[in-house]
Amino acid sequence: MTQIRKAVLPVAGLGTRVLPATKSIPKEMLPVFDRPAIQYVVDEALAAGIEHFVFVTGRNKGAIEDYFDRAYELEATLQGKGKTEILDELRATRPIPGSMSFVRQQAPLGLGHAIWCARDIIGDEPFAILLPDVLVQGEPSCLAQMTEVYADTGGNVIAVEQVPEEDVSKYGVIDPKSRDGKRIEMQGMVEKPGRDVAPSNLAITGRYILQGRIFKYLEDQAAGAGGEIQLTDAMARLMQDAPFHAVEYSGRSYDCGDKLGYLQAILAYAFNDPHLGESAKGLVRKTLDSFET
Ligand code: G1P
Repeated sequence: MTQIRKAVLPVAGLGTRVLPATKSIPKEMLPVFDRPAIQYVVDEALAAGIEHFVFVTGRNKGAIEDYFDRAYELEATLQGKGKTEILDELRATRPIPGSMSFVRQQAPLGLGHAIWCARDIIGDEPFAILLPDVLVQGEPSCLAQMTEVYADTGGNVIAVEQVPEEDVSKYGVIDPKSRDGKRIEMQGMVEKPGRDVAPSNLAITGRYILQGRIFKYLEDQAAGAGGEIQLTDAMARLMQDAPFHAVEYSGRSYDCGDKLGYLQAILAYAFNDPHLGESAKGLVRKTLDSFET
């Protein structure tokens, strides 16, 4: 079975739901506790064995490319001052040279179109997609749980989670056929269904392992929900002639493209910090008390 070596990270979105914070900063660069959101997503992928990252970017997203470059002056200054601890932390965020590619999506035509923009760099091997709006805390990481299923079943794998019925219209939703523990066989999926027509409350989390064949379906995919070229529609077609499983992963997800989801992510990652976690919880309790009295 081909190992999953490459991941596509679509980062062209405007971040309109978190304006004005994202007016001059890409939403993927907003800090979640002590690092930009994108760092957690890259770390999740590295933990699952990903070796090459393809960022599908847009205008005003240069800060992402700069973040993953070497900060030469900063490193030299820290070195000169003997600040080795922070220097080591900084160096740990730097990718292996040549392990990141950047390609532009020239118009906001939808997630399916963004993924299609990475086709030449991916070629025809299976690859991962991580939507950087969604941060997932899990042990092992969400993508690592999926690569396990991929190793057993081959084909295609997506992560899903249960969402409240009133929220199904915000997501891609799967139509489950049968289930074996966390693994689900599907008979369909639909992007942003109305509450009364949704086939289940199992929503696609924003983590995918797909065969290179998906590009063939994306090539001629018509616009779907919201007038955009949808990845879900292309996956629903791919499912007709290739093995495809959903995995209800173990962990928690946070939607950083939304103000409250973003706040929850900051709290969750602060609470998880091995040094500051307990103090962070105390601080939040104290702050809550001060607002309730
Ligand atoms: C995208 C996908 C959707 C998925 C969601 C997860 O939607 O199209 O299938 O459930 O991400 O966050 P978007 O949030 O870009 O509208």
